[in-house]
Amino acid sequence: MATIQEHCCSANIFFDEKMAKKQYQRYLKKGPPKVTARIIEQLSMHETEGKSLIDVGGGIGALQWWFLEAKGAKTISIDASSGYLKQAEEHAKTNGWENKTRFIFGDYVEAHKQAESVDFITLDKMVCCYPDYREIIEISCAKSKSHIALSYPIDGLISRLFAWLEGFFTKLKGQNFRPFVHPVSEIRKTFEQQGYERIAHDLVFPWHVETYRRVKNEK
Ligand SMILES: C[S@@+](CC[C@H](N)C(=O)[O-])C[C@H]1O[C@@H](n2cnc3c(N)ncnc32)[C@H](O)[C@@H]1O
Repeated sequence: MATIQEHCCSANIFFDEKMAKKQYQRYLKKGPPKVTARIIEQLSMHETEGKSLIDVGGGIGALQWWFLEAKGAKTISIDASSGYLKQAEEHAKTNGWENKTRFIFGDYVEAHKQAESVDFITLDKMVCCYPDYREIIEISCAKSKSHIALSYPIDGLISRLFAWLEGFFTKLKGQNFRPFVHPVSEIRKTFEQQGYERIAHDLVFPWHVETYRRVKNEK
């Protein structure tokens, strides 16, 4: 079993510059992928003007660009991939968003300490990259002042089999990165325990797309 540090190092190797460039080109041609677009739809129901966002594992930054275009005041990207961050930072520069954006490289579990609390947190296809989903959710719940939106895979035997196969083929290529399928009911329970309620849910097969709102100790 890889340690958390090894895991993050392998995410940096797996999500490399080549993959970042490919995804960025696709984004320029087609816009955000389906799951990301659904997160945007869910968050569009809420006021974003003047608000702040942390996008965890935000990749090339599609959610951040939407947020700034929707009059958001600032975005912070925390990512374990230097290739993705480099691509996102270039996009921010091209659009003159240097003063509204921040890019933090590292493992969210540690790197979040460099970021202040924000209104919105997004975790688009990120929780499945990390062995300890509880830690990611608890940190996010403490750090967000109002909403958290995330996407994560459905659970069950078939999902686990696909995740295992993906890990197996990645290993054949000499890499250590592997995805994780976490129990859906436990993910939801963790949000509840942290004082959040689920206010939106969609299934974009095989991904759950959900938004949670802080109800206890509103900041
Ligand atoms: C599957 S990609 C998703 C990228 C983007 N959100 C999207 O939906 O296109 C997972 C992202 O999570 C990042 N990641 C994985 N583990 C991380 C960690 N511990 N801390 C921060 N980012 C992490 C990866 O570097 C990568 O950018």
